Amino acid sequence: MTPAELELREYAVLGLVAEASHLALDYFGRSDSLNITMKGAQDWLTAADGAVESFLRERLGRLFPADGVIGEEGGGEAADAVWIIDPIDGTANFAHGDRNWCISIGFVLAGRPEIGVIAAPALGEVYRARRGSGASLNGRPIRVSGTSDIGRASLEFGWSKRKPLDSYIEMVRRGFEAGAAVKRPGAGALGLCHVACGRTDAYAELHINSWDVAAGLVIAAEAGAHVNDFFEGDAITAGNPVLCCTPELQDELECITGIVSRHKDR
Ligand code: IPD
Repeated sequence: MTPAELELREYAVLGLVAEASHLALDYFGRSDSLNITMKGAQDWLTAADGAVESFLRERLGRLFPADGVIGEEGGGEAADAVWIIDPIDGTANFAHGDRNWCISIGFVLAGRPEIGVIAAPALGEVYRARRGSGASLNGRPIRVSGTSDIGRASLEFGWSKRKPLDSYIEMVRRGFEAGAAVKRPGAGALGLCHVACGRTDAYAELHINSWDVAAGLVIAAEAGAHVNDFFEGDAITAGNPVLCCTPELQDELECITGIVSRHKDR
């Protein structure tokens, strides 16, 4: 794929995410139209998830018919050129009327994330990056914090029921014991963006799905973050652990989380 074809995809997806944001905002805060169902304890599904994903699938399919599409709700097959969508990341927040949720669209080529666009419509924020072109928030360049003192660090550790609770609690304990503050705001894609713009110093999760991170990992890497080798193996369909942090904290975060990369970014 040529640089021009990638650039075209980046601009197309910026337009689509703006439309998808209006669609999601029409549902947000209207508990009467959310049609909430639980896929399991703490595993939420709202009418907005389905509506936003259908909209994005239909438009991407029309614009780029040769590309594959994988979405949190509709699934899909891994392909050489593939869009990876989370229609609403932070669905539990969305359903509760908490504004910390986003729409995440990543484009992965030959196993490498190339484009990431994440919109947090209720917060008025759009993050974007294309590999090699830097990362921005609402058009302004962003950069990781550069924090090297773990005693000043703010860490986000994502949680899901896909891993035993003890392993999560142990990771949180090690984070606090090292002197950091640990939190869990509940939208993994936005968590990666917050590392990218220096609001936090790290995001880690012992297992996360590709639709939660495909866009955020490009954005964070382009903002100077260390990101682990998430896309190894069958991560696109089965997920993997994720660690994303300001590079100065890579060694300490690898000890705290146990998520170790072969490469050093510091
Ligand atoms: C979840 C959120 C959460 C993360 C979970 C994800 P969803 O996605 O991103 O922060 O910890 O791993 O499953 O269900 O809100 O789209």
